[in-house]
Amino acid sequence: MKNSESPFPCSVAIAADTGIIPEATAHYQKRLSDLRGLFLDPESLERRIREENDPVCYENYAFNDNQAEGDLFFGTTIIYPGKVGLEYHLTRGHYHRKRDHAETYQALSGRGYVLFERKDGTSCTAELIPGKVTYVPPFWAHRSVNISDVPLVFLWTCPVEAGHDYEALAGRGMRQVVVERNGRASIEEREACVSARQH
Ligand code: NI
Repeated sequence: MKNSESPFPCSVAIAADTGIIPEATAHYQKRLSDLRGLFLDPESLERRIREENDPVCYENYAFNDNQAEGDLFFGTTIIYPGKVGLEYHLTRGHYHRKRDHAETYQALSGRGYVLFERKDGTSCTAELIPGKVTYVPPFWAHRSVNISDVPLVFLWTCPVEAGHDYEALAGRGMRQVVVERNGRASIEEREACVSARQH
């Protein structure tokens, strides 16, 4: 929606434990069935979809539908705790449509990681925990993972014109995965995990 007048200053309430923004201008949920192709273990995914009636994996509240360049867009993402096989719940991830646009993430509760990947194949991860701000630089795809047993709630802020390109990561995993090993989160290479599953 295009607003003809520039917005007024305001303070927007955010519930740190649930991520709910009562004044949100947009909201969506993603269920496990929306995340096919992203997890290491498709059999476990289908079993959970079937046996748990396709639970919500994460949801998103956004504030500000003003589309004027130079404005900011912000909101929350809430990733519910859980695993598909050994792999922790995650978001579908995206590049920004304008690849040279950056973003920040700030965890409000729970803990996790952001998986990063560049077009040249470079990958890395960064913590997503209360007390730290995660910088999402230009040109990096980003996908978030909840490794805690409570909802991971984080606040994201980016330029409104950054936009989302979900297609580049649709239906595929990223180079790194976060799996549970001996009760702890372990960041591993996808290729190694895929070949371990096949042997
Ligand atoms: Ni983003």
